[in-house]
Amino acid sequence: MAAAGSAVGLGNIWGFPTQAASNGGAAFLIVYLVLAFTLAYPALMAELILGRHAHANAVTALAGTSRNPVAQWIGRSAGVVGFIVASLILSFYAIVAGWMMSHCLSAIASLVGANDLARWLVEFGLARNLLFMALFMGLTVAIIHAGVRDGIERWSSRLMPLLLITLVLLVIYVLTLDGAMQGLRVYLMPDMASALSPKLVISALGSAFFSLSLGVGTMLIYGSYISDKENLPVAGGLVTGVDIGIAVLAGFLVLPAMYVALNNGVDIFAADGSLLSEDTLIFAVLPALFETMGATGGLVSLCFFFLMSIAALTSSISMLEVPVAYTIENHGVRRHRAVLVIGVLIALVSTIILLNFSTLFGLVIAVTTRYSQPLLGFVFCIYVGWIWHRDSLLQELQRGAPNVESTLFWTIWPWHLRLVCPAIILLIFVQSIR
Ligand code: TRP
Repeated sequence: MAAAGSAVGLGNIWGFPTQAASNGGAAFLIVYLVLAFTLAYPALMAELILGRHAHANAVTALAGTSRNPVAQWIGRSAGVVGFIVASLILSFYAIVAGWMMSHCLSAIASLVGANDLARWLVEFGLARNLLFMALFMGLTVAIIHAGVRDGIERWSSRLMPLLLITLVLLVIYVLTLDGAMQGLRVYLMPDMASALSPKLVISALGSAFFSLSLGVGTMLIYGSYISDKENLPVAGGLVTGVDIGIAVLAGFLVLPAMYVALNNGVDIFAADGSLLSEDTLIFAVLPALFETMGATGGLVSLCFFFLMSIAALTSSISMLEVPVAYTIENHGVRRHRAVLVIGVLIALVSTIILLNFSTLFGLVIAVTTRYSQPLLGFVFCIYVGWIWHRDSLLQELQRGAPNVESTLFWTIWPWHLRLVCPAIILLIFVQSIR
C-alpha cells in the first residue's frame, strides 16, 4: 500500500490526464500503457529486488553489488545523486501540493461565506505560496518522523482507500453532467498520428518514470523494508497495476470535466485551438467549472482538491524517506533529528525556488524529472542487470517466490533489463536532448 501510495500522486491525477488531453487522448493512453509495462515495470522490479536484497538505501545497495572498487564508487555516487534528486523533486512537489491544499481550504472558506479569504487562497502570491509549502512540508515531516510502520505504512493504508473512494465518486458525478460524453469521446478515440511523435513518446516515458517514482531510490528503500516472504514480481505488478489504474481512472474525471466546463461556457481551448493543459487546466478551467455549478460546485471542488492533497502526501513522504533513510543508516543520525534537519533544508530550497519562481521552477522540474530520473534509472538497470551476480539475483527472488526460475518472469525479465531497458532509455534520452 505504501509503494502504491508513493506511485499514485500528482503525476497520476494531474500529469497523466492533462498530457493525454493534449496528446491524442486514447493514443497517449496506449503508448503510456506499453511503456509502463515494458520499461517502467522492469525498472521498478530492479529497484525493489536490489533494495530487499541489501536491506539498505541506494548508496549502500548499489555499492554492494560488486567487489570492484570502481564499480562500487560509481554505484555509491549514483546513490548520492539519487537522494539529492529525490530532495529536489520534493522541493517543487511541496510547492504544487501546497497549492492543492490552499484550493481545498478555499473551497471550505467559500462554503462558510468567507469570500475574501477564499479569494486570497487561490491567488498566486508569495505569502500564500510560502505558507502552504511550509504547511505541506510540515505534514510530510510529521509522518516521516513517526517512522516506517507508524508513519509511512499507517498513513498510506489510511489515505489510499480514501483517495480511491473520492476519485470514484467524483468520476461518477462528473459523468452524469451535460457535456461529459464529449470529453469521454476525446479520451477514448485514439489519434495515432500525434501519439507516435517522438516528443510524445519522450514525455510518456518521463511520466511513466515519474509516476512509478523511479530512478532516485524511493522504490529501492521501500523494497528494503519489504519482508523476505513477499513475492516481489507479484507485489511490483500490483503497484504498477494500481498506478496505471488510478491514472486511467483520473482521465475519466479530468477530460469529461473539461467538456462539461465547455458546455457551461468556460473556455477550454488556447488561442491556437489546442486544449488548455497542465496548470491552466487544474488551476483555471476546473475552478471555473466548479463556479458554474453553484452550491454543489463548492463541495465538488473541496473533494477534488482534497483528493489531490492526499495523493500528494502519500508520494511526498516517499521522497523524504530517501535522504532520511540514508542519513540514518550511513551516518548513524537519529530519525527525529535527520527528519527535522532534512525537512528544513528542503523547505529552504523550496523557498529559494518560490523567490525566483519564473527562472527556477521549470528548471528544477526539467533537470530532475526529464534528465536525472531516466539517467539514474539507466544506472539501476545496468547495476542489477550486469554488475550484480545473476545467481545472487535469482536467490533473492526465490525467497518469496520459490518457483520463480520456471516462470515467464525469470525467462524474460533479466535479459529485458539488461538489453531492452537501457537501450530504450538511452534512445529516448538522446532524442530528448537533440
Ligand atoms: N510517483 C509520484 C507521482 O506520480 C511522485 C513521486 C513519489 C516521485 N516519489 C517519487 C517521483 C520519487 C520521482 C521520484 O506523483
